Amino acid sequence: MKNLKIGDKITRIPLIQGGMGVGISLGRLAGTVAKEGGVGVISSAQIGYREPDFDRNPAEANLRAIESEMKKAREIAPDGIIGFNVMTALKEHAAHIRAAVKAGADIIISGAGLPTELPALTEGSSTRIAPIVSTDKSANVILKYWDRKYKRTADLVVIEGPEAGGHLGFKKEELEQYTPQSYGEEIRKIIATVKKYGEKYGVEIPVVVAGGIYDHSDVKRVMDLGADGVQVATRFVTTEECDADIRYKEAYIRASKEDIRIVKSPVGMPGRAIMNPFMKKVMDGGKISHSPCHGCLTKCSPAEIPYCITDGLISAVKGDVDNALLFCGAKAYKADKIETVSAVIQALFA
Ligand SMILES: Cc1cc2nc3c(=O)[nH]c(=O)nc-3n(C[C@H](O)[C@H](O)[C@H](O)COP(=O)(O)O)c2cc1C
Repeated sequence: MKNLKIGDKITRIPLIQGGMGVGISLGRLAGTVAKEGGVGVISSAQIGYREPDFDRNPAEANLRAIESEMKKAREIAPDGIIGFNVMTALKEHAAHIRAAVKAGADIIISGAGLPTELPALTEGSSTRIAPIVSTDKSANVILKYWDRKYKRTADLVVIEGPEAGGHLGFKKEELEQYTPQSYGEEIRKIIATVKKYGEKYGVEIPVVVAGGIYDHSDVKRVMDLGADGVQVATRFVTTEECDADIRYKEAYIRASKEDIRIVKSPVGMPGRAIMNPFMKKVMDGGKISHSPCHGCLTKCSPAEIPYCITDGLISAVKGDVDNALLFCGAKAYKADKIETVSAVIQALFA
């Protein structure tokens, strides 16, 4: 089996567990995946939602939780590879990256916008960096920018396709146009672009594919396209070790294919979620009142949004599933039981 070489660390299996906010992938899930030989990833998005001062001082609560969740993961996997997912769209992304580096993150994976400043924010540390891209165009833009501005390249690249969960890097029309075949071509193009930069810097940059990787045949399909590994998120939600409330996991198990829909996040980006009373109300043009702003996204006007994404995602992780934004990947309907992380890894790489 292939492994992933990330700096001086090598995984036992070619797997990254995708970062899932808010609170879905914290120290427990990431630590367990790292212990099993993959890369465990903690999401920094409103990570401090359980801190007592989160409502009053979310910025500080989040920084404190970055440290404590990393500690939790390290206790589970002292020698494992543990990283953070920090979305560029977050208002506090620079502070989150600095805190993750300080906490000893092995890697920062960053998308939801182009992570142009990631090399500067991690400079002088041993933390490796990986952009998330969805098209060859965005791969070219970010790798060219890093090459020109910082004279360096990525340590790993994540290709996130149309079947992923959470916010998606495509316009709604693009999502409708892609077929598995046409996106397969895009994957090949991105791999070729990354290879070009790897050759320029005399390094091998591993490329992993995310979005709809649910079983062994999915892993095989993208490895046959030339990927070095996979990033998997949705399938880890229905594990014992996932950090979310059991009612969130059960919502995945109950969901049918038809319940999984493309929705608009308050800031206009498309995302994928399970249909529920909350989302029906939003889609019917309703407006959901929200708590005082927790300052999560740069591009958000609290007075105008139909609902607050922080409120929606915190309700989800706490298990208030009818009043929540239930982000999920396209294959969430396949979940039919709660598994262990170890069993998921067996199924993926059998
Ligand atoms: C519940 C959920 C939350 C997510 N949150 C984030 C996030 O905070 N940041 C991010 O970059 N990606 C996020 N994602 C995307 C995943 O990291 C991953 O790349 C993608 O979902 C992979 O596809 P899969 O879910 O089909 O395996 C999220 C996905 C899910 C399902």
